[in-house]
Amino acid sequence: MPSAINVSKSQILFFVLTLILGIFIVILIYNSSIMGLLGSVSFPLEPESQSSLTGVLTNLDGGITANISLQVASGSQVSPGKAILFSVNVTHANLGNTEPFIFIYEIVNANSNQSFLRKDERFYGNESFILASRLGLPDVVPEGNYVFLVNISNSQNSVVISYPITVERVIATPWLQEHISFFLSIIVVAFVIFSGVYYVFWLRKGLLKKKYEERQKNSPYPFPDFFTLPQSKYAYVGIVADSDEKAYLDHTQLNRHTLIAGGTGSGKTIAGMVIAEELLKRNLPVIVFDPVGQWSGFAKKNADEHMRKRYNKFGLGLPQAFNPRVIEITDATMHVDITHYLFMKGMTVFRLDKLTPRKVDEFIDMALSQIYRANLPESGSLQSLIVLDEVHRLLPKYGGRKAYTRLEQAVREFRKWGVGLLMVSQVLTDFKGAIRGNIGTEIQVHTRYEGDIKRVRERHGAVISNLIAKLHTGLGMVECADYNKGAPYFIEFRPLLHSPYKLTETEMKKLVKKGTLVLRMD
Ligand SMILES: Nc1ncnc2c1ncn2[C@@H]1O[C@H](COP(=O)(O)OP(=O)(O)O)[C@@H](O)[C@H]1O
Ligand SMILES: [Mg+2]
Repeated sequence: MPSAINVSKSQILFFVLTLILGIFIVILIYNSSIMGLLGSVSFPLEPESQSSLTGVLTNLDGGITANISLQVASGSQVSPGKAILFSVNVTHANLGNTEPFIFIYEIVNANSNQSFLRKDERFYGNESFILASRLGLPDVVPEGNYVFLVNISNSQNSVVISYPITVERVIATPWLQEHISFFLSIIVVAFVIFSGVYYVFWLRKGLLKKKYEERQKNSPYPFPDFFTLPQSKYAYVGIVADSDEKAYLDHTQLNRHTLIAGGTGSGKTIAGMVIAEELLKRNLPVIVFDPVGQWSGFAKKNADEHMRKRYNKFGLGLPQAFNPRVIEITDATMHVDITHYLFMKGMTVFRLDKLTPRKVDEFIDMALSQIYRANLPESGSLQSLIVLDEVHRLLPKYGGRKAYTRLEQAVREFRKWGVGLLMVSQVLTDFKGAIRGNIGTEIQVHTRYEGDIKRVRERHGAVISNLIAKLHTGLGMVECADYNKGAPYFIEFRPLLHSPYKLTETEMKKLVKKGTLVLRMD
């Protein structure tokens, strides 16, 4: 349900501010300036920017022969075993001089003045030139402060440029050294995003609680903990009564069977149809055993004014038809192959309204037994939904015969094949033991049946049972161990997209396609 919660402008502002703060910290890290703040992090993240030193080589008269500049690309900190990378830029002031320049590179200990590395080279340059070179330090060089000296001379004079360097072993591995700022930024960004999202969630929760604490005062229906209701948005069935929150059922529960109970005209078939519509929208097979013919209405778009007026409230768009296969069951078609239709996408309606109650019982017994014996593959998720409307008729009390025992078997076994049962009944309490114990979701709509009201009273107290006795059509109480921590809550079911009415006989004749019928040979 939290899907419908409004996020206020201040929440968005907070989120944006946390994000900006995060980005700011990341920029700080990349600039390495934060290293100063962190203090203890002593390794350098990047080579220092190139240092540059200059000198002038003069001739005996004091005139300028060349301007010299030194660039040290490797920076002032070098590890033993690594090289000093540098270049000397010589710009002739006195062109035409063809004698060689002599370059002497030397590393001298800053304290003892002792030279321990020396290299020289000569270069004939009668134009300006850049001499790039490297001076490798041995592995054994002791750590400490040194001076890198570059002595440039010609026959007349010489100039020395000195550049201080520190020889220090870098503890971090070069790879980690290179990537540490990246990892730090990732951690900071993740932390900032996590705390931002958590804060918005927490804020939303608080706001929602506050909003409904107020509303609860004017509503007889106890509000659920909205955050414990199905979050998967699988089957949109309506809104939580007296709230603005959308109510969903989960596919993880629909394969554990559902029973909708209530008195005649209280909206139980419509509630069942809403669930069926949602599965059809998701392209799941839905099979209906329809003893009254009402489910044939799936073939037409909803034209009912009363329902259409409520589309806005529930955020519904246009009405929709679902193109069901309608199969009329008569004595001649009793042995239709149910398993042939079980996993066929879309809706298959078996019209049973031409059969006597005894034959209906026989047909359902036969159909469920076919499925039971079909050797279906096991499945942990919902593969198909079987709807049994007016299922109380199978109870011995209402004249049922063999099918009731078969139904007990079905609720026990069908779940493992991903075949969910959606049962619509006038009574609930009369379903005992095996059936009640295997129903994941119970939906109780208005009833005057004392047995069911008593059951609600015993489970949830007189306040709730009084509500059941007074419920308006289209409202239902939902109970499922996985929703609202098992406590009951109330839903106002959404209107249908398809027509709530049975087709006329003429419409039906057009729809019943005898050709689609598949009978069993055994
Ligand atoms: N969710 C709903 N929205 C609007 N009208 C509804 C809704 N549920 C039921 N109704 C109205 O109540 C009538 C009876 O509903 P129905 O489900 O056929 O009753 P039941 O199966 O309990 O006998 C419907 O024809 C419709 O007019
Ligand atoms: Mg009905």
